[in-house]
Amino acid sequence: MTATANISTNNSSGIAHILFVCKTCASVWQDGKRQGESGGEKLLRQLQHLAQNWDLRDDFPIQEVECMSACNRSCVVAFAAGGKLTYLFGDLTADGSASAVLECASQYYAKPDGLLPWSERPEALKKGILARIPPLGS
Ligand code: FES
Repeated sequence: MTATANISTNNSSGIAHILFVCKTCASVWQDGKRQGESGGEKLLRQLQHLAQNWDLRDDFPIQEVECMSACNRSCVVAFAAGGKLTYLFGDLTADGSASAVLECASQYYAKPDGLLPWSERPEALKKGILARIPPLGS
């Protein structure tokens, strides 16, 4: 028997992109339970709202995650795509960072290697870079 893999992506770049958002960042805990909406949930909600009118909304999905182990640098997001650098950004405010995150994600999408030079990044993502990980196979 012969199996044929048909791996395809639906976007114009031909590779899958993901914007990870930690929804646990900037949580308030009491008696071992999280109280109210966390900063990460607030940022996620704002990103999802803004992304409804983002031209890359179908090509660069937002995926919530529980934690990316940068908890003391909240709020935290990451950009990842096949064949590109992976970026982890922290120190994002829960309020007011969403448009900068999507702007930077658009820059990332446009670059074949995902490289995001400091001088080109939106202000909110200039200082809080926590990791820049080479692509697989590089
Ligand atoms: S709680 Fe957000 S990175 Fe850990």
